[in-house]
Amino acid sequence: MAPEPNLFYFCRPTHSAPVSHPVDFLSVQEFLTDEPACQTLWELLSTQFRTRGKFLTIWQGVRFVAVHRDPNGAADGFLLITTPINWQIDYVVVRPDRRGNGVATALLAEAVNQAYQRHAPYIMLTSRESLRAFYEGCGFTVVGRDPIHPTTPHPVDGSRVLSPPPIRTSGA
Ligand SMILES: CC(C)(COP(=O)(O)OP(=O)(O)OC[C@H]1O[C@@H](n2cnc3c(N)ncnc32)[C@H](O)[C@@H]1OP(=O)(O)O)[C@@H](O)C(=O)NCCC(=O)NCCS
Repeated sequence: MAPEPNLFYFCRPTHSAPVSHPVDFLSVQEFLTDEPACQTLWELLSTQFRTRGKFLTIWQGVRFVAVHRDPNGAADGFLLITTPINWQIDYVVVRPDRRGNGVATALLAEAVNQAYQRHAPYIMLTSRESLRAFYEGCGFTVVGRDPIHPTTPHPVDGSRVLSPPPIRTSGA
């Protein structure tokens, strides 16, 4: 099956909104002290995405990790954020047995709230077209479409996940 096109999504945080489930919004240093959560993240990256290369590339720039926990306290959903000035979201992923419960929605809502509280001018992410309704429901707008690029990492379902190109706000 041909890979699905990826879209570039944009969100300008303008207010804090209620989050349906509690989400831990952790610095990378805090996240790294939770070994079981690190293990779960790695398992999900290994099973839900085709390559680890992009993850290893972006990890050095990741500043925050949003973590959702199941009723037993085990991490069941993650979202990574890099924050040079504007924020970029990568690797939104939920444990397969916990999907369909609004976990990803809560992770996105908390990330947008945190961006607003920390004065991030805007948030970008890249994701496949079939998740458009989901991301639009989280306050994101489609601002572009990525041409198919066969060497780019993609999730195991045949779609791909990309980072958007850098966007300059200073005109430099
Ligand atoms: C995509 C993913 C993060 C969704 O997690 P989730 O916790 O099940 O999502 P939610 O329960 O918050 O669902 C939010 C909405 O998105 C929709 N949705 C969820 N997964 C979807 C999918 N694969 N395709 C299309 N829509 C989807 C849901 O139907 C729901 O819509 P609704 O609010 O109208 O009912 C999860 O399926 C996952 O981890 N997939 C593998 C990794 C991946 O592809 N991540 C995205 C990379 S860009």
